Amino acid sequence: MSEPLTGTPLPADHPLATTDPARSTVGSPLVTAFRGGTPSRIPVWFMRQAGRSLPEYREVRQGIGMLESCLKPELASEITLQPVRRHDVDAAIFFSDIVVPLRLAGVDVDIVPGTGPVLGQAVRTAADVAALPELTDESLEPIREAVRRTVAELGSTPLIGFAGAPFTVAAYMVEGGPSRDHLGPRTMMHADPETWNALATWAADTAGAFLRAQIEAGASAGQLFDSWAGSLSLDDYQQYVQPHSAHAFSHVRDLVDGSGQPVPLVHFGTGTSEILPAMRDAGASVMGVDYRLPLGEAHRRLGATPGPDGRGTVPLQGNIDPALLSAPWEVLEAHVREVVEAGRVAPGHVVNLGHGVPPTTDPTVLTRIVDLIHSIQP
Ligand code: CP3
Repeated sequence: MSEPLTGTPLPADHPLATTDPARSTVGSPLVTAFRGGTPSRIPVWFMRQAGRSLPEYREVRQGIGMLESCLKPELASEITLQPVRRHDVDAAIFFSDIVVPLRLAGVDVDIVPGTGPVLGQAVRTAADVAALPELTDESLEPIREAVRRTVAELGSTPLIGFAGAPFTVAAYMVEGGPSRDHLGPRTMMHADPETWNALATWAADTAGAFLRAQIEAGASAGQLFDSWAGSLSLDDYQQYVQPHSAHAFSHVRDLVDGSGQPVPLVHFGTGTSEILPAMRDAGASVMGVDYRLPLGEAHRRLGATPGPDGRGTVPLQGNIDPALLSAPWEVLEAHVREVVEAGRVAPGHVVNLGHGVPPTTDPTVLTRIVDLIHSIQP
């Protein structure tokens, strides 16, 4: 699978490029599994592992707004590290949010507790899109600073950077806030495709710059969250969304590590069973699978339709059902073991939840899951 050295090399002191064994993430279980190799232990991390399930998180967040916390490098770094210290997970996920780059660009957006991202003004017309501010490179400095602080503490544990995919971010922008069926953006792509494409292009460039800043500053992998892509038909996904997600990935696809290997890129959404191969074709090297689709079936669907580069199956990430986190331990343990066994069909498997940690989760259960997974032979 080795690719020629044609990409843009990461800085020599980057965790994927350094020769210092105490800081290198190349041989880590996460990066090894993401690249389809056999890791020294089965890697696991949890989406939303940094958050309200942790008392230490609630403590440091007191009196500080969500987006404000994301823009304080010292605090964002501390929150990113909390679940790694507590659970011994195999990766940190950068504490930020899919709307942070919007705020950095100057869009009037906030995160309302219990609701989610809310914009001062919805973006619905060609003029609204044309008036969107550009995300400048300088404005990303608090992000780079938080990433540098975090990787300095993480040693050989990789940090995963992320961004919101164009559809999911544009869905918030068109609706002006969270919605159930994402009717606004789904109408716009058919009723006014030109405006839709302009908005999705803006969202792709903004996400791409946000992700690139994290990877260049020290993240060892990148994940694109298209949480709401499952509301799309396959046709709509292919015509109106996939090219924009591919464009977002294109911002980081050239980056290569010390041996010329590309940085692992994960693509995740929920309810994506029918569009999984189309999402893979947007350019990820690893596919996230939500809890609705058994990993064996995800593997079959991906393998049955080789991507544009002729690759068949890809490494998978997922897919413990978050609902089972509050089931009796015996039930949860059996489920986790099932997920681990099912993942063995894929060239690599990183265990995760099929969506984020619910805020009501007992954090000791998460630690117990990590211990269980680490006790199973890779
Ligand atoms: O461990 C991690 O995964 C932390 C980093 C992270 C956050 N948001 C922190 C956060 C990541 C990767 C995200 C991505 C994100 N944000 C997505 C995609 C992933 C997904 O869950 O589907 C989406 C759709 C958002 C938008 C968003 N931000 C929502 C819907 C909410 C919840 C609002 C609420 O209060 O119910 C947020 C806020 C948010 N983002 C929190 C965290 C920890 C909660 C803030 C708090 O503690 O009050």
